[in-house]
Amino acid sequence: MKNIVLTGFMGTGKTTIARELSKMLHMRLVDIDAEIEKARKMKINDIFRIHGEQYFRDVETDMIKKLSREKNIIISTGGGAVLRDENMEALKENGIVFCLNASTETIMERTSRSEDRPLLKVEKPKEKITEMLSYRRPFYEKAGIMIETDSKTPLEVVQEIMEIIRCRK
Ligand code: S3P
Repeated sequence: MKNIVLTGFMGTGKTTIARELSKMLHMRLVDIDAEIEKARKMKINDIFRIHGEQYFRDVETDMIKKLSREKNIIISTGGGAVLRDENMEALKENGIVFCLNASTETIMERTSRSEDRPLLKVEKPKEKITEMLSYRRPFYEKAGIMIETDSKTPLEVVQEIMEIIRCRK
């Protein structure tokens, strides 16, 4: 079985969907951000604050390349993983890549509940989300199979992904 890879902007539900998929398909889940935090013994927030985004991106690429070599796992990526072609090439080598999509409003609502998104700790998060989404849209569009998540329950999203996987077998 190929890996199942979830990409998508912050707040599109990657973590929740990955957990559900992992339960339903009995596949191990690895979350790139969580693995980075474990390996570096630092929170993502602190990595950004102390070392900056560029450093984080390099660490992220190393972790993606390392974990992409595994098989039969669910990989949940950080929202910026799509920005580097080398990340996507590595993820696609052993995996079926999905990209979760949501509107600015949904993203705003989902991300406003947590404090752990360094890129959204700005005065006007909504404007920032709109700006980042418009810059990143082409990257997400070429990342993988696009799944809309607005007005769907996690279970509906999971079922949609499982159906696509079943058809590709
Ligand atoms: C980022 C998304 C975050 C995390 C980091 C950068 C991004 O992950 O990797 O804060 O550039 O979109 P989530 O998408 O899981 O929030």
